[in-house]
Amino acid sequence: MPFSWNNQQKPIVALSPMADMTDTPFCKIIRKTVLQSAPQSRLIVFREMVSSEAIVRGNKKTMIMTGIDPIERPIVQQIFGANPDAMAKAASIIVDEHTPDAIDINMGCPVYKMVSNFNGSALMKDPELASKIVGAVKSAVNVPVSVKMRAGWSSHNECIEFAKIIESAGADMITVHGRTQKQGYSGTANREVVAQVKANASIPILYNGDIFTWQDYFQALEETNCDGALIARGALGNPWIFAQIEQRLMGSKVTEPTLENRINTVLEHLNEHIVHYGDSSIATFRKHLSWYFKGITGFKQYKPALMSATNKEEIISILHNLSID
Ligand SMILES: Cc1cc2nc3c(=O)[nH]c(=O)nc-3n(C[C@H](O)[C@H](O)[C@H](O)COP(=O)(O)O)c2cc1C
Repeated sequence: MPFSWNNQQKPIVALSPMADMTDTPFCKIIRKTVLQSAPQSRLIVFREMVSSEAIVRGNKKTMIMTGIDPIERPIVQQIFGANPDAMAKAASIIVDEHTPDAIDINMGCPVYKMVSNFNGSALMKDPELASKIVGAVKSAVNVPVSVKMRAGWSSHNECIEFAKIIESAGADMITVHGRTQKQGYSGTANREVVAQVKANASIPILYNGDIFTWQDYFQALEETNCDGALIARGALGNPWIFAQIEQRLMGSKVTEPTLENRINTVLEHLNEHIVHYGDSSIATFRKHLSWYFKGITGFKQYKPALMSATNKEEIISILHNLSID
């Protein structure tokens, strides 16, 4: 059956898109980890954003970023840009080439490099252009099209009207990260405004922001009444968060990963990373390594050696010799 946001099992749980993080190796690890506890997992993964202009120009590296391994499905490819025609063309190229289950449009990224070109959350300042983009992408592809937005550009309640406009433009689902562009990552995500977006909508609304534990996920849904939630930083070095949510939803005992689980997952991730990017890609795996051991008591003494390791064998040897209680 073709993917549809309305037909997804509720509550929805998804890996939020993260540039330089939610690539194929990481999405595969996330999926494999959840399948161990929940073979019927409802997890949806969002692939990191890609530039519509780069796709239209035929940039090879960007096109490769949109490749999909079957185990990652269902998977949503996010695109960014400010030109409706380029966005439509890019979506159509990606869907034709790699058949992601859905397309998501980035209207939430707050970083200067993006908003200075009127990409990402800058689109929240121009609802007419944002609507044109949604309409153009919708007409170009035969898969669902969603939008990920912030609470607003400068004030928290902007998303309430903006979401209505985006829904009218034809979006099939909306995610709201409850912070403004001006906030960046400071303060806390505003759940009240997301609850108001949900109360006014007739399409699925997903909550996003500050979910770091499985308990946070259920708390956020209770407070917002949303159809599900996206988790970003809470999944870095912690693919188990999705298994824990599934365990809770199935009514089974929620388990914590053991040190052995952690080491095995890191090694499997490392392997996937090297298979995907090549032997010299250790440097780009370090960002994941630090997340996997963040806050683990007794790990600090091993960190310098692990972070300066230059090959797979060195990392394997350090991890196999960890002595942490
Ligand atoms: C390293 C990093 C990269 C990100 N890249 C993207 C992106 O490509 N597209 C997007 O919509 N949001 C991106 N985000 C934002 C997250 O998807 C999410 O909205 C935000 O981190 C809040 O959720 P959290 O509190 O669960 O982390 C990124 C966040 C981080 C930390």
